[in-house]
Amino acid sequence: MRITIFGSGYVGLVTGACLADVGHDVICVDVDEAKVARLEAGEVPIYEPGLESLIRQNQAAGRLRFTTDAAKGVAFGLLQFIAVGTPSDEDGSADLRHVLKVAETIGRHMTEYRIIVDKSTVPVGTASKVERVVAAELDRRGVELEFDVCSNPEFLKEGAAIEDFSRGSRIVVGTESERVKSAMRECYGPYNRQQEKLMFMAVRSAELTKYAANAMLATKISFINEIANLAERLGADVEEVRHGIGSDPRIGYSFIYPGCGYGGSCFPKDVKALAHTAEAAGYPAEMIGAVERVNGRQKGKLFEKLCLAFDGQLAGKTIALWGLAFKPNTDDMREAPSRALMEALWQAGARVQAFDPEAAEECRRLYGERDDLILAERRDEALEGAHALVICTEWKAFRTVDFARLRETLLEPVVVDGRNLYHPDSVKAAGLGYYAIGRGDSV
Ligand code: UGA
Repeated sequence: MRITIFGSGYVGLVTGACLADVGHDVICVDVDEAKVARLEAGEVPIYEPGLESLIRQNQAAGRLRFTTDAAKGVAFGLLQFIAVGTPSDEDGSADLRHVLKVAETIGRHMTEYRIIVDKSTVPVGTASKVERVVAAELDRRGVELEFDVCSNPEFLKEGAAIEDFSRGSRIVVGTESERVKSAMRECYGPYNRQQEKLMFMAVRSAELTKYAANAMLATKISFINEIANLAERLGADVEEVRHGIGSDPRIGYSFIYPGCGYGGSCFPKDVKALAHTAEAAGYPAEMIGAVERVNGRQKGKLFEKLCLAFDGQLAGKTIALWGLAFKPNTDDMREAPSRALMEALWQAGARVQAFDPEAAEECRRLYGERDDLILAERRDEALEGAHALVICTEWKAFRTVDFARLRETLLEPVVVDGRNLYHPDSVKAAGLGYYAIGRGDSV
C-alpha cells in the first residue's frame, strides 16, 4: 500500500518507519529541508530506542523515503497521514495552523481520491475543519474530486514508541465510511493479526478518545500526588497506600506512582487543550483544571523540600541533580520537573551539577553555557562538591546507590528523591536525611 505522511516529527517518523517495516511503501514529507537532508542520510533527529535502525533498514530496502516535495507526497499515497505538530496556543487551545496548512496542500495537489488521516492530536471537530479546507481548495481549483477524512489518534509513549505501535492495545479509527474502513484494515492489517484491535467509531468519538485517555492518565498521577501530599501531613507512607489501593483490580497498579509531577509534550498540552475545549463547549470541567493545578504545584515540591532541608538558605549551595529528561529513556525535557527545579535554584542563587544519560545536549541547547550549570559526564561526577542530591527522573542507572559512599561525598546529608526510588531505612541508616514524596517530612 502507498502511504504518505506529512510531518517528520516524533509521531510521523515512528508511524512511517513502522508502516514501512511491514511492507508498505512510505513517503514522509516535511517542510524543513535540513531535517529531510539529515533523514535522507540516515540521521534521526530525535532519540527513540530502535527508531534509527528501523528507519535505516527500511530506507535501504527502498520502502521509506523523505522529501520536501509536497506535490509528490500528495500524488503518492492513497492514505495521507497528517502528523504535524499541534502546539499550545497562548490560551491553551491547540494551534491547528500546521494541520490546516497540510489539508490545504492536499486539496491543492490532489488529482484522484484520497483518504486524509488525522494522526496529530487534534481537538474534537478538527476532521470537519480539515474537510472544509480541502473542499474549499478543490472548489478554488474548480475540480470535483472525492475524498474522506478520518481520525486515527496515536497512543505512543516516548521511549517505547515502536513497541506501542507494534503491540499497542488498540487502533482507533473514527469514520463512517466503508471505503476508509477497508483501507485502514489493509494499512494496519500486519499489526492486527493476533486479536481484533481495530476499533471503528464516530469521528468525534475518536478525537475525544485521545484526549480522554491522556486526561485520565494525568488524573491518576495528580490524584496519587494529592494523596502523597496528604500522607506527608498525616504521617502515612504513600508507597504503602499505593500498594494497598493498586491491589484492587478496579484501581490497578499502573500510573499511580507519586512523583514530582508529569511532564513531556503530551499530558500538559492535552490537559490544557481539553480544559479549553470544555470551556468552549460551555461545560465547566472541574476535574481537568484541578489535574493541571495539582501538577503545577507538584513540580515545585522538590524545591520546597530543599528549602526545608536547608532552612531556606540555598544561595551559594551546589545541588547535584540526577535526571533532566521528563522521564527515562528519552532526551526530551519539555515541561520536565527538572526545569522547574533548576530555574528555582538559580533564582535562589544555587548552582546545579546535573547528570542525565541522554538529555545533557538538550539541556545545553535550552539553557546555554552558564556559570551556575555544570553538566557532568558521569552520575557520580555530579556529586563532587555538592551539598545535596536531588533525583528528578527514575533512570535505571540511579536505582542502585552505595549510600555510605554518598554520605561521604555530599557536603551535607541531604537526599531529595522525586521518584521514591529507595527504601527510606537504607538511606537513613547511612546517616542521610531522606526527603521523598509522600513518605514523611511534609512541606
Ligand atoms: C503519553 C501517554 O502515555 C501516551 O499513551 C500518549 O500517546 C502520549 O502521551 C501522547 O499523547 O503522545 P508520554 O508523554 O510519552 O506518553 O509519557 P508517559 O510515559 O505517559 O509519562 C508521562 C509523565 O507522567 C512522565 O513525566 C512520567 O514521569 C509521569 N508519570 C507516569 C508519573 O509521574 N507517575 C506515573 O505513575 C506514571
